[in-house]
Amino acid sequence: MTPPELLLEQVMVHVNDIPGLPDVLFKVNEVVNDPESSADDLERAINNDIAVSAKLIRLVNSASYGLPSQISTLSRAIPMLGFTMVRNLVMSVSLFQLDAIFEPDLKKFWLHSFATGVVAQAIAVTDRLPDAKSQSLAGLLHDIGKVVFIQNFIRETQAVLQEQISKGLTYYEAEKNLFLTNHAEIGREIAIKWNFPPNLIAAIGYHHDPDAADGFADFARVTAAANILSQLTEEGFFFEKGYEESADACSEFYQLSEKAYKFAILEFNSQTKFFENFIEQLVLEYRAAK
Ligand SMILES: [Fe+2]
Ligand SMILES: [Fe+2]
Repeated sequence: MTPPELLLEQVMVHVNDIPGLPDVLFKVNEVVNDPESSADDLERAINNDIAVSAKLIRLVNSASYGLPSQISTLSRAIPMLGFTMVRNLVMSVSLFQLDAIFEPDLKKFWLHSFATGVVAQAIAVTDRLPDAKSQSLAGLLHDIGKVVFIQNFIRETQAVLQEQISKGLTYYEAEKNLFLTNHAEIGREIAIKWNFPPNLIAAIGYHHDPDAADGFADFARVTAAANILSQLTEEGFFFEKGYEESADACSEFYQLSEKAYKFAILEFNSQTKFFENFIEQLVLEYRAAK
């Protein structure tokens, strides 16, 4: 296995090699964050990138198959799915296009990421925290560092999994035991490289240790709690086990109220089937193109 110092160096080389995000994403984000903007503005922003918009319409179309109402065009999709969901879909499509994405189980990874975004946003909305829309994006991207590490360091990833199982640690603890860096720090470097705003950089970088997120600890605590709640278990997601267990699990980071919990479940249930279909199609297309 690569010695820790050398590994750190190699990780940074890979981070530097990651391409920038497509412009469409910044435009879409701007529109989503502007309370004055309309569905037409969002549609125009997405249509700036023909490849992304064509793919988005195609995937939304096949993902809505079997749902009560079909969503075949962007102008229908936007009011039905909502701005934040559409922005998250554009984000997922753009990331897959970067071709820097690999995970032994892509679908599981994206479902966890999506659930973290939904839960984080629901908490922020219920508790009237600022930046609820950014919470959704922070949740969606919090583990982005894992993606880069796993893709480039297969042997080291296996060592992390081994360490995790043999010592009963979390993935993050196992990484910290073995290396000089971890997926949260790597994610932070990527977020800096992509010119993300400071709250997003902090939430990605400190989602396992939010108190260390200088100036953004409150923001990062919500991502940290949502990350715990949206761990996949054998039966489904952790937060589906009930309020008491959920509140207890994330209490180290955030005091989850029953109201926020109920809203998170509601939001998750109303959005997840569609997103699951969408990711399934995206993964299928990605694998077919390989
Ligand atoms: Fe993580
Ligand atoms: Fe996570």
